[in-house]
Parts: sequence; C-alpha cells; structure tokens
Amino acid sequence: MWSTLSVGPAAFIGYLSISTPSSYANSYPITTVLANQLRPYSSTVLPSFIPVVVSSHPPSSSSSTISIRHSSALTMSTPTTTTTTTNNNIDGKAIAAQIRSELRQTVSTLPTPPPGLAVLLVGSRRDSQTYVRMKKKACEEVGIASFGYEYPDTATEEEIVQKVLELNQDDRVHGILVQLPLPAHMDETRVLQAVDPSKDVDGLHPMNTAKLCSTGTHVGVDKLDWTKLQSIPFHIPCTPQGCIELLDRSGVELKGKNAAVIGRSNLVGLPVAMLLMHRDATVTIVHSKTVDAEQVVRNADVVVAAVGRAEMVKKDWIKPGAVVVDVGINSVDDPSSKKGYRLVGDVDYAAVKEVAGMITPVPGGVGPMTIAMLLRNTVNSSVRIAAAKGDKDEK
Ligand code: GUN
Repeated sequence: MWSTLSVGPAAFIGYLSISTPSSYANSYPITTVLANQLRPYSSTVLPSFIPVVVSSHPPSSSSSTISIRHSSALTMSTPTTTTTTTNNNIDGKAIAAQIRSELRQTVSTLPTPPPGLAVLLVGSRRDSQTYVRMKKKACEEVGIASFGYEYPDTATEEEIVQKVLELNQDDRVHGILVQLPLPAHMDETRVLQAVDPSKDVDGLHPMNTAKLCSTGTHVGVDKLDWTKLQSIPFHIPCTPQGCIELLDRSGVELKGKNAAVIGRSNLVGLPVAMLLMHRDATVTIVHSKTVDAEQVVRNADVVVAAVGRAEMVKKDWIKPGAVVVDVGINSVDDPSSKKGYRLVGDVDYAAVKEVAGMITPVPGGVGPMTIAMLLRNTVNSSVRIAAAKGDKDEK
C-alpha cells in the first residue's frame, strides 16, 4: 500500500540507554520507488492535516522524482515534549535553546574528559566562518570541548585527510566535522570518507547514510525506534534531524501523512525524506526535473523546503493547514537594511504563513536546530565510544 511519512513527537530522554555502535551488517543502500502520488490521511493529533515542507539546497542535476512507499499500521503517537509555537510559528530558536539546556544537564553528569568536537574549516568563506564560530560558542554553552583547525584555500586535500585520520585516533575527540563546502580543488567525498563513522557527527559518511537508508523490514534486523532519534545507534545528519525534532516538539504527527521534500541533497533532502519515511509518512522528493512540482507539494500535509532558492515556495503551493519547514537560508539584497541584505528562506514566509497550519521562520527556525543536533550527536558519540571502550576493557 502507499503510505505517508509520519513525523511524530520524540522525547528527549537522555543518554543512559544508548547502545554501542551496531555492526554494519544491517546497512543497505536506499531503494526508491518512482512515483509522485501521495495519499492523504487525517491526523488525530492536530485538528487539520498539517503538511510539512523542508527546503534548503540548490536543486541538483539528476532527474527522478522519488516516492518512498511502505506499509504501516496507522497508529498515532503522543507528543511528549514541549510545544513552542508563536501563533502558527514553530520557534526553532526557543526549541534549540531548550535542547542545549537539556544537553548541558546531560554533559554535567558525564565523566571527564568531556565530549569533544573537532571542526575543520578550509578557506575563507564568510558564511562558513560564521557557522563555525556559532558551533564553537554552542559547544562552550553545553560543556563540550571544541577543537578548531583552520586552513587556507590553498591547503591540499592530503593535508585535510591526514588531519582527519589523526583526529580519528584522538581520544579527546568524539565528533569530527569538516565544514562544507570545501574548496573546489578538493574531493569532498574522499575527505568525508576519511572520518571514522563513529565520530561522523555530521552523519555524512556513506556508512551512516547506508544505515539511515536501511528500512529494517526484513527478518533478522533490529527494528529501530525512530520516535526516539537520540537512541538511534549511528549518526543522523544534523539539519534533517533538527527538522524532525522541531516537528516532534511541536506536536506534529507524521504517521500516515503525505510529505513533500523539495530538494534532494545528501545534506538535507535525501536524509530528511528517509527520516520522514521511518516515521511512517508517505514521502515524495521534489526536484528540478519533477513534472508539476507545485501539484505534488499541494498534496502534502508536511512540506520541507531545502532547495536554496529564495522564496521559491509560494502560498498557492501549500495545502491549507499544511506544516511547512523551511531549511533555506538565502541572502537577498535589501537597501533598507543596515547590512544591505537580509536572510530569507526557500518559502515565501509572509504569504505562506497565512495558509500554513504551522511554519518555521527564517532566521530562527531550522538554523538553530542544526547546531543543537550537532551537539547532541557529539554527546551521543562520547557516550557510545565510552561504552564501546568499556566493553573492550572487560574482555
Ligand atoms: N555546511 C552547511 N551545512 C553544513 C552541515 O550540516 N555540515 C557541514 N559539515 N557543513 C555544512
């Protein structure tokens, strides 16, 4: 049967039940089914069907429209965490602050040394420098040790790979993040593959991608509890995880819903589609070659926009009551602003807000959640690595 991608509430429970890294035996490449029809279901949690749209990165060049289908009983899960909305706004800034506070509490209970995050920045992009600074500050806030490594644009790929390999062996470091994009002369895939998957807090190593894309529907494979993202024993990319966490903490039920993900990047589109599917939503990925993209989006209860096109998603694309998650961060000229520009999302926020059931603003929506999830992955990583080491020492 066709089923929808369901995004349900997830509770932040802490790290006591985190298991050691599982073997790679249950990793499978993603299997996709071409289609663009979604079947709506109604929600028992929200008065109306709330669609969610996630957007954020430039459209890629390849071409199939993908729907993910699966079968699942339509049961509802109960929101267990804070709902922070202003009107129909989903307040990512407040939710991320709450998560950082929870993490600070968790970190305070962990043995020393504290969780450690290494961030590699290559080149002089202003936006990347800003993001890296924000990550460092957030680490300080929750008690994570941060280790920064900066390289000029002229650095070689080999230098970066060697640094990553060194950090893989460094016991103070539980998470490694290579800020993207890398300069054009570097092979991004090679650099990302050098990161030990257990320290890949970005969730971009193919091993982590493969695990994310394993449906676990076959015999002999452990079923994961996708309603508790913090319990998943491998790293999930931060922005997609942040989107789902926002929905969960806003009481949005995903099970049985039609979800449209606009954009198919490795960083956001693909992983968020997988997460939505794991939560029993029926998912369609919309991209640059999709025929009648607007119609697909109009059928969605949840829209995630991640294409990197300023205000591309218009009001008449959105089904009334749909939940819209805007991953885009685009700079547009604005002579009236002091800086001469302002940041907007992939969604025409002011107009879409009038019809959406809920919507994330830009800034202050998904952005702060990306960093909160990076911190959470790092804390998870430190707990798992300590548990794995304990197991080894016992033997
Ligand atoms: N650049 C923009 N977003 C990201 C991200 O989530 N991870 C990394 N490594 N680089 C980015």
